[in-house]
Amino acid sequence: MAVLVTGGAGFIGSHMVAALRAAGRRVVVLDDLSSGHRDAVPRDVSLIVASVADRSRVSALIHEFEVDAIAHFAARAQVGESVRDPRLYWNGNVVATARLLDCAVDARVRTFILSSTAAVYGAPDAIPITESEPTRPINPYGETKLAIERMLASYARAYGLRFVALRYFNAAGADVERELEERHDPETHLIPLLLDTALGRRPHVTVFGRDYPTLDGTCVRDYVHVVDLADAHRAALEYLERGCESGSFNLGAGTGHSVAEVIAMCRAVTGRDIPVAYGERRDGDPPVLIASPALAGDRLGWIARRSSLERIVRDAWAARLRASARDARVTRHS
Ligand code: UFG
Repeated sequence: MAVLVTGGAGFIGSHMVAALRAAGRRVVVLDDLSSGHRDAVPRDVSLIVASVADRSRVSALIHEFEVDAIAHFAARAQVGESVRDPRLYWNGNVVATARLLDCAVDARVRTFILSSTAAVYGAPDAIPITESEPTRPINPYGETKLAIERMLASYARAYGLRFVALRYFNAAGADVERELEERHDPETHLIPLLLDTALGRRPHVTVFGRDYPTLDGTCVRDYVHVVDLADAHRAALEYLERGCESGSFNLGAGTGHSVAEVIAMCRAVTGRDIPVAYGERRDGDPPVLIASPALAGDRLGWIARRSSLERIVRDAWAARLRASARDARVTRHS
Protein backbone atom coordinates (compact mmCIF):
# COMPACT_ATOMS: atom_id res chain seq x y z
CA MET A 1 0.00 0.00 0.00
CA ALA A 2 1.29 3.48 -0.81
CA VAL A 3 0.32 7.12 -0.54
CA LEU A 4 0.30 8.97 -3.86
CA VAL A 5 1.58 12.53 -3.39
CA THR A 6 0.75 14.69 -6.40
CA GLY A 7 2.95 17.78 -6.59
CA GLY A 8 5.45 16.00 -4.35
CA ALA A 9 8.35 17.86 -5.99
CA GLY A 10 6.90 21.22 -4.95
CA PHE A 11 7.34 23.28 -1.80
CA ILE A 12 4.67 21.84 0.51
CA GLY A 13 4.39 18.46 -1.26
CA SER A 14 8.09 17.69 -0.80
CA HIS A 15 7.78 18.38 2.92
CA MET A 16 4.82 15.99 3.02
CA VAL A 17 6.88 13.26 1.34
CA ALA A 18 9.49 13.71 4.07
CA ALA A 19 6.84 13.57 6.84
CA LEU A 20 5.26 10.41 5.41
CA ARG A 21 8.60 8.65 5.12
CA ALA A 22 9.48 9.63 8.66
CA ALA A 23 6.19 7.98 9.68
CA GLY A 24 7.27 4.80 7.84
CA ARG A 25 4.82 5.12 4.92
CA ARG A 26 5.46 4.04 1.35
CA VAL A 27 5.22 7.00 -1.02
CA VAL A 28 5.00 7.56 -4.76
CA VAL A 29 5.23 11.05 -6.28
CA LEU A 30 3.38 12.29 -9.37
CA ASP A 31 4.61 15.67 -10.59
CA ASP A 32 4.84 17.21 -14.07
CA LEU A 33 7.81 19.33 -12.87
CA SER A 34 6.18 22.47 -14.28
CA SER A 35 7.00 24.21 -11.01
CA GLY A 36 8.44 21.43 -8.83
CA HIS A 37 12.08 20.37 -8.66
CA ARG A 38 13.34 16.86 -9.36
CA ASP A 39 15.99 17.20 -6.64
CA ALA A 40 13.29 17.83 -4.00
CA VAL A 41 12.23 14.17 -4.34
CA PRO A 42 14.54 11.72 -2.50
CA ARG A 43 16.36 9.33 -4.87
CA ASP A 44 14.72 6.26 -3.36
CA VAL A 45 11.17 7.57 -3.89
CA SER A 46 9.52 6.77 -7.25
CA LEU A 47 8.80 9.93 -9.21
CA ILE A 48 6.39 9.69 -12.12
CA VAL A 49 6.72 12.75 -14.35
CA ALA A 50 3.22 13.25 -15.75
CA SER A 51 0.11 15.35 -15.33
CA VAL A 52 -2.57 14.43 -12.79
CA ALA A 53 -4.98 14.77 -15.73
CA ASP A 54 -3.29 11.90 -17.60
CA ARG A 55 -5.84 9.19 -16.81
CA SER A 56 -3.97 6.24 -18.22
CA ARG A 57 -0.72 7.08 -16.39
CA VAL A 58 -2.57 7.77 -13.13
CA SER A 59 -4.66 4.58 -13.32
CA ALA A 60 -1.57 2.54 -14.11
CA LEU A 61 0.42 3.93 -11.21
CA ILE A 62 -2.44 3.49 -8.72
CA HIS A 63 -2.51 -0.15 -9.75
CA GLU A 64 1.26 -0.67 -9.87
CA PHE A 65 2.02 0.89 -6.48
CA GLU A 66 -1.21 -0.28 -4.80
CA VAL A 67 -2.13 3.27 -3.88
CA ASP A 68 -4.73 3.47 -1.14
CA ALA A 69 -4.59 7.19 -0.32
CA ILE A 70 -3.93 10.37 -2.29
CA ALA A 71 -2.52 13.67 -1.02
CA HIS A 72 -3.17 16.17 -3.79
CA PHE A 73 -0.84 19.18 -3.88
CA ALA A 74 -0.35 19.60 -7.63
CA ALA A 75 -2.02 22.87 -8.57
CA ARG A 76 -1.51 26.36 -9.83
CA ALA A 77 -1.35 28.67 -6.83
CA GLN A 78 -0.69 32.29 -7.74
CA VAL A 79 -3.48 34.71 -7.05
CA GLY A 80 -2.31 37.36 -9.57
CA GLU A 81 -1.83 34.83 -12.37
CA SER A 82 -5.30 33.41 -11.69
CA VAL A 83 -6.83 36.84 -12.32
CA ARG A 84 -4.82 37.42 -15.52
CA ASP A 85 -5.27 33.92 -16.99
CA PRO A 86 -8.13 32.08 -15.25
CA ARG A 87 -8.37 29.21 -17.70
CA LEU A 88 -5.02 27.95 -16.39
CA TYR A 89 -6.76 27.58 -13.04
CA TRP A 90 -10.09 26.12 -14.15
CA ASN A 91 -8.28 23.58 -16.34
CA GLY A 92 -5.16 23.05 -14.25
CA ASN A 93 -6.95 22.85 -10.91
CA VAL A 94 -10.61 21.87 -11.41
CA VAL A 95 -10.58 19.82 -14.63
CA ALA A 96 -7.31 18.07 -13.75
CA THR A 97 -8.58 17.20 -10.26
CA ALA A 98 -11.84 15.82 -11.71
CA ARG A 99 -9.76 13.46 -13.84
CA LEU A 100 -7.62 12.43 -10.88
CA LEU A 101 -10.76 11.77 -8.85
CA ASP A 102 -12.23 9.64 -11.64
CA CYS A 103 -9.18 7.42 -11.42
CA ALA A 104 -9.39 7.34 -7.62
CA VAL A 105 -13.08 6.42 -7.59
CA ASP A 106 -12.68 3.78 -10.33
CA ALA A 107 -9.79 2.18 -8.44
CA ARG A 108 -11.69 2.38 -5.13
CA VAL A 109 -9.13 4.69 -3.51
CA ARG A 110 -11.24 6.14 -0.72
CA THR A 111 -8.88 8.45 1.17
CA PHE A 112 -8.12 11.89 -0.24
CA ILE A 113 -6.34 14.93 1.20
CA LEU A 114 -6.62 18.22 -0.63
CA SER A 115 -4.25 21.13 -0.44
CA SER A 116 -6.74 24.00 -0.15
CA THR A 117 -6.33 27.65 0.81
CA ALA A 118 -7.48 30.55 2.97
CA ALA A 119 -8.31 32.20 -0.37
CA VAL A 120 -11.67 30.34 -0.25
CA TYR A 121 -12.80 32.92 2.36
CA GLY A 122 -12.04 36.03 0.29
CA ALA A 123 -12.03 39.07 2.56
CA PRO A 124 -13.91 37.77 5.60
CA ASP A 125 -15.72 39.95 8.13
CA ALA A 126 -14.73 38.04 11.25
CA ILE A 127 -11.18 37.53 12.52
CA PRO A 128 -9.94 34.97 13.48
CA ILE A 129 -11.50 32.99 10.66
CA THR A 130 -13.32 29.80 11.58
CA GLU A 131 -14.48 27.16 9.12
CA SER A 132 -18.08 28.36 9.51
CA GLU A 133 -17.20 31.75 8.00
CA PRO A 134 -18.91 32.13 4.57
CA THR A 135 -16.75 31.11 1.63
CA ARG A 136 -16.70 34.04 -0.80
CA PRO A 137 -13.47 33.88 -2.80
CA ILE A 138 -12.37 37.07 -4.54
CA ASN A 139 -10.10 35.57 -7.19
CA PRO A 140 -10.16 32.55 -9.54
CA TYR A 141 -7.49 30.77 -7.48
CA GLY A 142 -9.79 30.71 -4.44
CA GLU A 143 -12.82 29.93 -6.63
CA THR A 144 -11.16 26.88 -8.16
CA LYS A 145 -10.05 25.48 -4.79
CA LEU A 146 -13.57 25.96 -3.42
CA ALA A 147 -15.01 24.23 -6.51
CA ILE A 148 -12.71 21.26 -5.83
CA GLU A 149 -13.82 21.13 -2.17
CA ARG A 150 -17.45 20.99 -3.39
CA MET A 151 -16.61 18.30 -5.91
CA LEU A 152 -15.09 16.26 -3.09
CA ALA A 153 -18.20 16.70 -0.93
CA SER A 154 -20.48 15.40 -3.68
CA TYR A 155 -18.12 12.53 -4.53
CA ALA A 156 -18.05 11.68 -0.83
CA ARG A 157 -21.85 11.46 -0.73
CA ALA A 158 -22.14 9.45 -3.95
CA TYR A 159 -19.04 7.25 -4.06
CA GLY A 160 -18.01 6.76 -0.46
CA LEU A 161 -14.81 8.79 -0.89
CA ARG A 162 -13.55 10.33 2.36
CA PHE A 163 -11.60 13.54 2.30
CA VAL A 164 -9.94 16.26 4.30
CA ALA A 165 -9.39 19.70 2.70
CA LEU A 166 -6.68 21.69 4.45
CA ARG A 167 -7.03 25.44 4.06
CA TYR A 168 -3.56 26.87 4.43
CA PHE A 169 -2.90 30.41 5.45
CA ASN A 170 0.62 31.69 4.60
CA ALA A 171 2.94 28.72 4.19
CA ALA A 172 6.56 29.65 4.88
CA GLY A 173 9.79 28.40 6.49
CA ALA A 174 11.77 25.31 5.46
CA ASP A 175 13.00 21.93 6.64
CA VAL A 176 16.64 22.80 7.23
CA GLU A 177 17.76 19.26 8.07
CA ARG A 178 16.43 17.82 4.85
CA GLU A 179 17.65 20.78 2.78
CA LEU A 180 14.16 21.48 1.47
CA GLU A 181 13.13 25.08 0.92
CA GLU A 182 10.76 27.41 -0.90
CA ARG A 183 11.77 27.89 -4.56
CA HIS A 184 9.20 29.43 -6.84
CA ASP A 185 9.82 30.88 -10.27
CA PRO A 186 8.82 33.65 -10.43
CA GLU A 187 8.93 34.22 -6.66
CA THR A 188 6.01 36.31 -5.40
CA HIS A 189 5.93 35.46 -1.68
CA LEU A 190 7.04 37.97 0.90
CA ILE A 191 9.56 36.04 3.04
CA PRO A 192 11.62 34.48 0.20
CA LEU A 193 11.68 37.86 -1.56
CA LEU A 194 13.00 39.55 1.58
CA LEU A 195 15.67 36.86 2.06
CA ASP A 196 16.79 37.09 -1.58
CA THR A 197 17.10 40.84 -1.09
CA ALA A 198 19.20 40.24 2.04
CA LEU A 199 21.49 38.10 -0.15
CA GLY A 200 21.81 40.98 -2.63
CA ARG A 201 19.93 39.12 -5.38
CA ARG A 202 17.30 41.82 -5.61
CA PRO A 203 17.72 45.56 -5.12
CA HIS A 204 14.67 45.94 -2.86
CA VAL A 205 11.23 44.60 -1.96
CA THR A 206 8.16 46.72 -2.67
CA VAL A 207 5.60 46.88 0.14
CA PHE A 208 2.17 46.67 -1.45
CA GLY A 209 0.24 49.41 0.31
CA ARG A 210 0.62 51.08 3.70
CA ASP A 211 -2.83 52.57 4.04
CA TYR A 212 -4.68 49.46 5.22
CA PRO A 213 -6.85 49.63 8.33
CA THR A 214 -4.22 47.83 10.45
CA LEU A 215 -1.95 49.03 13.27
CA ASP A 216 0.93 50.06 10.98
CA GLY A 217 -1.03 50.31 7.72
CA THR A 218 0.43 47.14 6.13
CA CYS A 219 -1.44 43.83 5.54
CA VAL A 220 -1.57 41.27 8.31
CA ARG A 221 -1.14 37.54 7.56
CA ASP A 222 -0.96 34.29 9.50
CA TYR A 223 2.38 32.62 8.70
CA VAL A 224 2.57 28.87 9.28
CA HIS A 225 5.70 26.72 9.16
CA VAL A 226 5.76 24.29 6.25
CA VAL A 227 6.90 21.43 8.53
CA ASP A 228 3.79 22.07 10.66
CA LEU A 229 1.70 21.90 7.48
CA ALA A 230 3.29 18.57 6.55
CA ASP A 231 2.50 17.30 10.05
CA ALA A 232 -1.12 18.31 9.62
CA HIS A 233 -1.38 16.27 6.42
CA ARG A 234 0.03 13.23 8.13
CA ALA A 235 -2.45 13.75 10.98
CA ALA A 236 -5.30 14.15 8.46
CA LEU A 237 -4.38 10.88 6.80
CA GLU A 238 -4.43 9.08 10.13
CA TYR A 239 -7.73 10.80 10.99
CA LEU A 240 -9.36 9.44 7.83
CA GLU A 241 -7.84 6.03 8.37
CA ARG A 242 -9.44 5.95 11.83
CA GLY A 243 -12.77 6.29 10.04
CA CYS A 244 -13.49 9.91 11.04
CA GLU A 245 -15.74 12.23 9.10
CA SER A 246 -14.73 14.22 6.00
CA GLY A 247 -14.25 17.96 6.43
CA SER A 248 -12.34 21.16 5.80
CA PHE A 249 -9.88 22.57 8.34
CA ASN A 250 -7.94 25.80 8.65
CA LEU A 251 -4.19 25.56 9.07
CA GLY A 252 -2.63 28.66 10.55
CA ALA A 253 -0.76 29.66 13.68
CA GLY A 254 -3.71 31.74 14.91
CA THR A 255 -1.51 34.85 15.11
CA GLY A 256 -1.12 37.70 12.64
CA HIS A 257 1.98 39.65 11.58
CA SER A 258 2.06 42.76 9.44
CA VAL A 259 4.31 43.14 6.41
CA ALA A 260 6.32 45.71 8.42
CA GLU A 261 6.81 43.18 11.24
CA VAL A 262 7.96 40.53 8.78
CA ILE A 263 10.49 42.96 7.30
CA ALA A 264 11.79 43.80 10.79
CA MET A 265 12.10 40.10 11.65
CA CYS A 266 13.97 39.34 8.41
CA ARG A 267 16.39 42.19 9.11
CA ALA A 268 16.93 40.98 12.69
CA VAL A 269 17.46 37.31 11.74
CA THR A 270 19.77 37.98 8.77
CA GLY A 271 21.57 40.91 10.41
CA ARG A 272 21.46 42.59 7.01
CA ASP A 273 19.93 45.73 5.71
CA ILE A 274 16.99 44.88 3.46
CA PRO A 275 16.01 47.88 1.35
CA VAL A 276 12.27 48.37 0.82
CA ALA A 277 10.23 50.66 -1.40
CA TYR A 278 6.57 51.55 -0.95
CA GLY A 279 4.09 50.91 -3.74
CA GLU A 280 0.38 50.65 -4.45
CA ARG A 281 -1.91 48.02 -2.98
CA ARG A 282 -1.87 44.72 -4.87
CA ASP A 283 -5.24 43.71 -6.36
CA GLY A 284 -7.12 41.12 -4.32
CA ASP A 285 -5.13 41.50 -1.07
CA PRO A 286 -7.47 41.42 1.96
CA PRO A 287 -6.21 43.63 4.85
CA VAL A 288 -6.15 40.91 7.54
CA LEU A 289 -6.21 37.08 7.36
CA ILE A 290 -5.77 35.18 10.61
CA ALA A 291 -6.90 31.60 11.11
CA SER A 292 -8.65 30.03 13.99
CA PRO A 293 -6.82 26.67 14.07
CA ALA A 294 -9.10 25.39 16.86
CA LEU A 295 -11.00 22.84 14.77
CA ALA A 296 -7.79 21.31 13.37
CA GLY A 297 -6.50 21.14 16.95
CA ASP A 298 -9.66 19.48 18.16
CA ARG A 299 -10.21 16.96 15.34
CA LEU A 300 -6.71 16.28 14.07
CA GLY A 301 -4.83 16.89 17.32
CA TRP A 302 -2.70 19.38 15.35
CA ILE A 303 -0.69 22.17 16.92
CA ALA A 304 1.46 24.60 14.93
CA ARG A 305 4.53 24.12 17.16
CA ARG A 306 7.14 25.60 14.88
CA SER A 307 5.15 28.57 13.62
CA SER A 308 6.53 31.54 15.55
CA LEU A 309 7.55 34.19 13.03
CA GLU A 310 11.11 34.06 14.34
CA ARG A 311 11.44 30.30 13.85
CA ILE A 312 9.91 30.51 10.36
CA VAL A 313 12.33 33.21 9.25
CA ARG A 314 15.32 31.55 10.94
CA ASP A 315 14.65 28.23 9.20
CA ALA A 316 13.96 29.85 5.82
CA TRP A 317 17.21 31.84 6.14
CA ALA A 318 19.29 28.81 7.20
CA ALA A 319 17.91 26.83 4.23
CA ARG A 320 18.64 29.69 1.83
CA LEU A 321 22.22 30.05 3.07
CA ARG A 322 22.79 26.31 2.69
CA ALA A 323 21.31 26.34 -0.82
CA SER A 324 23.45 29.27 -1.91
CA ALA A 325 26.60 27.61 -0.52
CA ARG A 326 25.65 24.45 -2.46
CA ASP A 327 25.05 26.46 -5.68
CA ALA A 328 28.42 28.16 -5.25
CA ARG A 329 30.14 24.76 -4.91
CA VAL A 330 28.39 23.47 -8.06
CA THR A 331 29.44 26.60 -10.02
CA ARG A 332 33.06 26.27 -8.83
CA HIS A 333 33.21 22.65 -9.96
CA SER A 334 31.58 23.11 -13.35
N1 UFG B 1 3.73 41.53 -0.12
C1 UFG B 1 4.38 42.74 -0.32
N2 UFG B 1 5.34 42.77 -1.29
C2 UFG B 1 5.70 41.69 -2.03
C3 UFG B 1 5.03 40.46 -1.79
C4 UFG B 1 4.04 40.43 -0.83
O1 UFG B 1 4.09 43.76 0.31
O2 UFG B 1 6.57 41.81 -2.91
C5 UFG B 1 2.67 41.49 0.92
C6 UFG B 1 1.32 41.10 0.34
O3 UFG B 1 0.65 42.26 -0.07
C7 UFG B 1 0.65 40.39 1.53
C8 UFG B 1 1.83 39.78 2.29
O4 UFG B 1 2.99 40.45 1.82
O5 UFG B 1 0.07 41.33 2.34
C9 UFG B 1 1.99 38.31 2.02
O6 UFG B 1 2.00 38.12 0.61
P1 UFG B 1 2.37 36.74 -0.08
O7 UFG B 1 2.36 36.99 -1.56
O8 UFG B 1 3.59 36.18 0.54
O9 UFG B 1 1.16 35.80 0.34
P2 UFG B 1 -0.42 36.04 0.14
O10 UFG B 1 -0.94 36.46 1.47
O11 UFG B 1 -0.73 36.89 -1.01
O12 UFG B 1 -0.83 34.60 -0.32
C10 UFG B 1 -1.16 33.59 0.54
C11 UFG B 1 -0.96 32.26 -0.17
C12 UFG B 1 -1.97 32.10 -1.27
C13 UFG B 1 -3.36 32.34 -0.73
C14 UFG B 1 -3.45 33.68 -0.07
C15 UFG B 1 -4.80 33.90 0.53
O13 UFG B 1 0.36 32.16 -0.69
O14 UFG B 1 -1.87 30.78 -1.78
O15 UFG B 1 -2.48 33.76 0.97
O16 UFG B 1 -5.11 35.25 0.43
F1 UFG B 1 -4.24 32.32 -1.74
